[in-house]
Amino acid sequence: SIMREISDLDHLESQLKQSLPVSDVKVVSGDADQSEEVKSLLGQAAAQTLTQYVHDESIVTVTGGSTLAAVAKHMKPLNQIRPLFVPARGGLGDMHEYQASSICVQMAKQMNGSYRLLYVPDTVGHEVYSKMMEEPAVKDVISLIRQADIVIHGIGDALKMAHRRKADPKQLELLKEKSTVGEAFGYYFDQKGKTIHQLNSIGMTKEHLTNDKTVMTVAGGTSKCEAISAFFKWGTSDVLIIDEAIARHLVKHI
Ligand code: G3H
Repeated sequence: SIMREISDLDHLESQLKQSLPVSDVKVVSGDADQSEEVKSLLGQAAAQTLTQYVHDESIVTVTGGSTLAAVAKHMKPLNQIRPLFVPARGGLGDMHEYQASSICVQMAKQMNGSYRLLYVPDTVGHEVYSKMMEEPAVKDVISLIRQADIVIHGIGDALKMAHRRKADPKQLELLKEKSTVGEAFGYYFDQKGKTIHQLNSIGMTKEHLTNDKTVMTVAGGTSKCEAISAFFKWGTSDVLIIDEAIARHLVKHI
């Protein structure tokens, strides 16, 4: 019955709260790899959870991807609260809807907040990187990322993300060779949480993941199970919003 399922999810949440270094865990039922509806439920849960942390002066920095796009869809205006949304990443791949900047625009619209844009590629060559980082518009966004009190981000399967970024065959080979499993904020890491490859990326870096920020991690789907386990060895999160597929995996593997 439905009641039985709900208490089952509650049980998963409390087990994970005890065993992971996070302050809150939300689990939605199902597997996001199997149905778009589950991704939508994840988005709904994340948007709802954000309301517990956001305040009028909030600066919320946001990554890209289909999961974060689902979060944006479910945001609603909150009385007197108009946060500033700042993209944590530049652009990647061909999908406009998955860009951090596009997601910030939608989040700001849905919550009557404001936004900034980061219209640069998320990965550039060495020389361009240092030049770009001197641009006032880029510096401004980086400074807001540093000041952000809330981070909402996705986690990707390493190879899937490398394909989305159109990585060259040599790079793909390296990621495979080193058994890279996950990707977050432009870092590719292995099962032990070791960084295998970091992009010359414009936007948020690991150094910005300071403990004065509330970090919300949103991810679903069996294909991301290993990536999430590894993420906890690589970085930190305060609030975890996942689906049942990932929750059951984590309970078994931590
Ligand atoms: O960094 C990871 C990606 O943003 C995840 O993308 O939500 O489309 O799987 P996705």
